[in-house]
Amino acid sequence: MRFIKNFVEKVMKITYYGHACFAVEVDGKTIVFDPFISGNPLAKNIQLKNIKADYILISHGHEDHTADAIELARLTNALVVSNFEICNWVQEKGINRVHAMNIGGHYMFDFGKLKCVNAIHSSSMPDGSYGGSAMGFLLETEAGNVYYSGDTALSYDMKLIGDYKRIDICMLPIGSNFTMGIDNAIIASEFVKCDRVIGMHYDTFPPIRIDHQEAKEKFTNAGKDLLLMKIGETITI
Ligand code: NI
Ligand code: MN
Repeated sequence: MRFIKNFVEKVMKITYYGHACFAVEVDGKTIVFDPFISGNPLAKNIQLKNIKADYILISHGHEDHTADAIELARLTNALVVSNFEICNWVQEKGINRVHAMNIGGHYMFDFGKLKCVNAIHSSSMPDGSYGGSAMGFLLETEAGNVYYSGDTALSYDMKLIGDYKRIDICMLPIGSNFTMGIDNAIIASEFVKCDRVIGMHYDTFPPIRIDHQEAKEKFTNAGKDLLLMKIGETITI
């Protein structure tokens, strides 16, 4: 007796909007991370009004992660997911669709399971108000698991993430100065046991400009793959 399964593999699409802003599309839902587009000269070809979003995830309060969050939430009616303090700030700006979380917690959304993980970074809002603790996100979906570290230093806590789940792809900062740089990102990818890394948080400002060739070579020499996506580019995994 033979069992024939009509197996449809789910895919995930990842679009880069510059700096630390990505859209992850899975199962017809679009999750946008850290919208910072209108203030980023490198993303001048991206129009906020053309960005689809069902969810907006905010890792921390800094302007290069929150600048377009309110406007994008207004345009899309997306649900804003962040820490408690940032969700309060978002609500004060007139956006009522928020879901407050905090580090260590997870919640089941219709795209899958979202877990908030530790990040070593500061978090104040653009107006100087308190922005809670910076965090990273772990998305577990039927199309794969994604670790978006947010702005962070290399941390031993990343080993917990690698032990906890299989990570299929990760977004890690590589620009140094404000976050970890290339060498520490290679170690981070070892800690989370994921050889497929999309670089973020580089080139946007003078102190975080990097040599792309050198960065890619370092990852290759470590047996890893560093993807430096073009702004506006979409990949399917
Ligand atoms: Ni930051
Ligand atoms: Mn930043």
